[in-house]
Amino acid sequence: MTQSQLRIVIVGHVDHGKSTLVGRLLHETGSLPDGRVETIRAASEKRGVAFEWAFLLDALQAERDQGITIDSTRIRLKTPGRETVVIDAPGHKEFLKNMITGAAAADAAVLVVDAVEGVREQTRRHGYLLHLLGMTQVVVAVNKMDAVGWSQARFDEVSAEVAGFLKGIGLTATHVVPLSAYVGANLTARADQMPWNDGPALVEALASFHPQPGLADMPLRFPVQDVLKLDERRIVVGRIESGRLRVGDELVFWPSGKAARVATIEGWNQAAPAIGAAAGQSVGITLDDHIFVERGHVASHGLASPCECTALRANLFWLSREPLTVGSRWRLRLATAEVWAEVAAIEKVVDVEDLSAANATQVERNAVAEVLLRLRGTIAADTFADNPRLGRFVLVDGHDVAGGGIVTATDLETGRQGVPKSTNLFPVGHRAPLEARWALNGHRGGVIWLTGLSASGKSTIAMEAEHQLLRKGRQVYVLDGDNIRQGLNADLGFSPDDRAENIRRVGEVAHLFAQAGIIVITAFISPYRADRDRVRAIRPGNFHEVYIKADVEECARRDPKGLYARALRGEIPEFTGVSAPYEEPETAEMVIETLGRSVEHSVAALLDYIDRSFVLKAGEAAGVGG
Ligand code: ADX
Repeated sequence: MTQSQLRIVIVGHVDHGKSTLVGRLLHETGSLPDGRVETIRAASEKRGVAFEWAFLLDALQAERDQGITIDSTRIRLKTPGRETVVIDAPGHKEFLKNMITGAAAADAAVLVVDAVEGVREQTRRHGYLLHLLGMTQVVVAVNKMDAVGWSQARFDEVSAEVAGFLKGIGLTATHVVPLSAYVGANLTARADQMPWNDGPALVEALASFHPQPGLADMPLRFPVQDVLKLDERRIVVGRIESGRLRVGDELVFWPSGKAARVATIEGWNQAAPAIGAAAGQSVGITLDDHIFVERGHVASHGLASPCECTALRANLFWLSREPLTVGSRWRLRLATAEVWAEVAAIEKVVDVEDLSAANATQVERNAVAEVLLRLRGTIAADTFADNPRLGRFVLVDGHDVAGGGIVTATDLETGRQGVPKSTNLFPVGHRAPLEARWALNGHRGGVIWLTGLSASGKSTIAMEAEHQLLRKGRQVYVLDGDNIRQGLNADLGFSPDDRAENIRRVGEVAHLFAQAGIIVITAFISPYRADRDRVRAIRPGNFHEVYIKADVEECARRDPKGLYARALRGEIPEFTGVSAPYEEPETAEMVIETLGRSVEHSVAALLDYIDRSFVLKAGEAAGVGG
């Protein structure tokens, strides 16, 4: 693929002339093999039907179906200076879906409007879609000018109508071009029939557009497709969606935040080993360290990382017959990641006819909506504006794409997630580096996050561990659910939202303690994986999830506070394990099974882990103290 190629989509209402335009453009730009038009003309005559330019596309489609020639979903036009590619034939049945899912990512668009009919339903729908996809290079082609006697007055009328509509959705057409695809007027050169028109011909207008900045020049996004084990080696396989990577680069894998260097880039059928690879290439790499990497992770370079999201705000285009409702769940696929997503809110549904936004509880087929999705897990994503490849997703139902969308905000911006309301804030830096605190204490700070059912043993283990650590001279403090809910979180109950807020606040506090150099042990049920993942995401390297494991039968048998008995009698609503869920950790750093084990045994295991992870070794202490 050459850099200077311009990829365009041609959209517009049915019968406004999209296919005719593409057929005629193929001809006018001399992009067809010699004799092609004649063959089709002859075939039409034989069948006794009048020749139409759109037949060219049908012919291409038929050949494609038989696997003979060109892919009609990528129609190449020979235009001056560079090639223009029409992505996806307008009549193609997957057309809209491809535009939405990004299979057809275009640099520019031509919106075709019939000079006789003016703006129609699909003109609006497609126009809105262009806006949704962030398209800024748009030509409006006012087609069939021959049918209105090449009238300037009619052109002005239609132009005004289109401009008014586009303005309403926040889109400005770069050019509005009067033309006749059928006659071939004003496509490649100014048409004699419209001397009043001093604007460019269609191809000239397209020449003023720029291909989007190359994906290779954007920050690295390398979504992992698979990790293959070959002999002793683990090969991380995927397609580089944007940016480049080289042997020796340090890559950070999200959402885990774990880092390692590229040791080799593996080649298939390659004479010499590659030392670099860029966007568009599928590669396998090996790393210099055995970090945990799996399908769905995305590698980036340290500073320019994607967001770790457990919620997304998105513009969604709905395709499924089954409406999208608040509370419904779908599989969300973004790059190679796949997670359950729940529709937390439908913020507005846009009526593409009159562009009115309404509050609604469901989104019907072909409608556009702004939605808030809550994810059951953490994924790496970007906003569409930051990176189109990692900023779009589909929602699937079984094997079917039910809808597609673009990410307009990651969870950091969806409220209650720690992005300050005020923009007039100026964070200040500490003068003493964190390492200086570590050196003073002889150990790092960090968060040991105990999670598990009520009565699983979290508080008991935490308090005993704190006691023993203090005796060894460690800086340590326990944050415990029943305690924090007396003060800081006294306003919170046990609904999923309140628990999320409970964990968010405690997570922030715990990380502050860790930044102060302290080993903080938290004891909260924290039943939702997404809530815990959010706390991890604050500083992934400082977060150690420890699952204090005991099944609900055992906890109910222990029942030190008598709460299980009451919950089972229905006296405590939303009681974890009885009438509210507990989601077991999937990526805990440590699991402590407490069934049949003494407290001492569990505490010893935890202290051993803390010693290994936090205490500075002799050399390290000198190093960081310096
Ligand atoms: S969390 O779910 O938000 O993490 P947290 O750990 O702060 O919960 O508080 C749990 C403690 O609150 C339990 O140990 C128990 O003593 C008390 N509690 C009261 N009501 C409930 C309830 N409905 N579910 C769970 N714990 C409850």
